[in-house]
Amino acid sequence: MNKTAIVRCEHFNSAHRLHNPHWSEEKNQKIFGKCNNPNYHGHNYDLEVKVIGICDPSTGYVIDAKVLSDLIKEKVLDRFDHKNLNLDTEEFKTLNPTAENIAMVIYNILKPELDNELDLKIKLYETARNYVEYPHS
Ligand code: NI
Repeated sequence: MNKTAIVRCEHFNSAHRLHNPHWSEEKNQKIFGKCNNPNYHGHNYDLEVKVIGICDPSTGYVIDAKVLSDLIKEKVLDRFDHKNLNLDTEEFKTLNPTAENIAMVIYNILKPELDNELDLKIKLYETARNYVEYPHS
């Protein structure tokens, strides 16, 4: 039987700074450019959470969209929306808050909350022109 994907689109605003504490100021500036600005900067992140699985014949759902929406709100948006990722969150105290790492962290937060047989893909837009996908296969 074919699998079906359901996608929930969400949005959050966060501030961040890309910085590697093991590098000099010059190297950080060279690698991360404006994203290394010491006083942080913000992004309007668009998040797509894709859940893939076999439809439950009794409901016709892969997952109840309301359940998925509540899960994302409680576990992701409440944690990251209107926050400074470097300063306000445990996840990015030592992990550089690149789009790649944010997508991976969101995956790692949500995956254990889903039924085991469901697959999960995260797409995260940092700008209208740049997005990352995790995991990629
Ligand atoms: Ni940035």
